[in-house]
Amino acid sequence: MARTRAATTTPERPQDQADQGVNSDEPALTPARSAGGSQPPMFGGLSGSRKNVLDLDDFSKEEIEHILQSADGMNEVLSRDVRKTPTLRGKTILTLFFENSTRTRVSFEQADIDPGTEVVNMSSSARGVSTGEALLNSLRKLEAMKVDVLVMRHPHSGAPYFVASNIDAAVVNAGDGTHAHPTQALLDLYTMRRHLGDIAGKKVTIIGDLHFSRVARSDVWGLRKMGADVTVCGPPTLLPYGLRPGSERAESAAFTGIKVVDRVEEALEGADVVMTLRIQKERQDSGNLPDLREYSKLYGVNADRLALANPGALLMHPGPMNEGIEISSEVAHGAQAVIEEQVSNGVAIRMAVLYMLCARNRAGE
Ligand code: CP
Repeated sequence: MARTRAATTTPERPQDQADQGVNSDEPALTPARSAGGSQPPMFGGLSGSRKNVLDLDDFSKEEIEHILQSADGMNEVLSRDVRKTPTLRGKTILTLFFENSTRTRVSFEQADIDPGTEVVNMSSSARGVSTGEALLNSLRKLEAMKVDVLVMRHPHSGAPYFVASNIDAAVVNAGDGTHAHPTQALLDLYTMRRHLGDIAGKKVTIIGDLHFSRVARSDVWGLRKMGADVTVCGPPTLLPYGLRPGSERAESAAFTGIKVVDRVEEALEGADVVMTLRIQKERQDSGNLPDLREYSKLYGVNADRLALANPGALLMHPGPMNEGIEISSEVAHGAQAVIEEQVSNGVAIRMAVLYMLCARNRAGE
């Protein structure tokens, strides 16, 4: 595990870090089972132009595929007694969360496994930096630490884009408002691919609060890039505006090319993957969700409903789950659930993302 420290004030970069090099005896990053039997992806060429990971809309299928293959390699590294990823050595990674997180935050911390990597974890209230200028001033102070990668979660959609265009460090969006959560989407694609092989042509049904879901937006980008057949289903008030019945608003690009189904039973028929979304109670002030009990009755995924999907269909959830509301405890912990696997795959995916960005930076040194 990398040296990890929590910080409440602007920390200083340790003197010894700049002198740390890559040992020639470090294990090579060789995936044990890289998909398709290909060589370990080193992101040569692909990473050359990518400074940030803000959403999957600007990823090509090829680039997503390389990250998924690299995550295979990272899982192999994680299984070793000595865990080292040479490219992360000597790098400084700052995780900055302005909103609660358990899974994402911990998996980024676990992803920084090299003892030569400096990891600084900070939390803050978004209230203290409620204007773009205040946020930028804070981040410029942090930049004095010579941060290589900033992993950032923020309640305001677009905040990581603003930051990325104003600082030199690479930025990874760890969830911004209701907009995007690209590393969650990558770990979801990775989990699907490990079970189903090629995702192209597979029916993926996403159920629930799509209006407020940054996970769903990024998932749909990724799934469409990989050629999946995406169906969405939820209460009309929790669908993105352009997908609501009778809406004259154009749908945002994130949700084009998908099928919208009113009845959950129909949406589940023939599904290879069933993804239930968390009802985000903290985002329901606008009254889009009048009644939790009714939601659960009409849209909750239980054993009877899951049986409508293809035999052995995967059941997924980004977490944290509201058991008994969007998902029954029986299926959440049943044989078809891969929800814990999603969490553990998050470490390998985040390692792959950090590795990609640091490899790019190192190439530019
Ligand atoms: N899936 C997800 O983003 O979980 P956390 O909010 O716990 O990070």
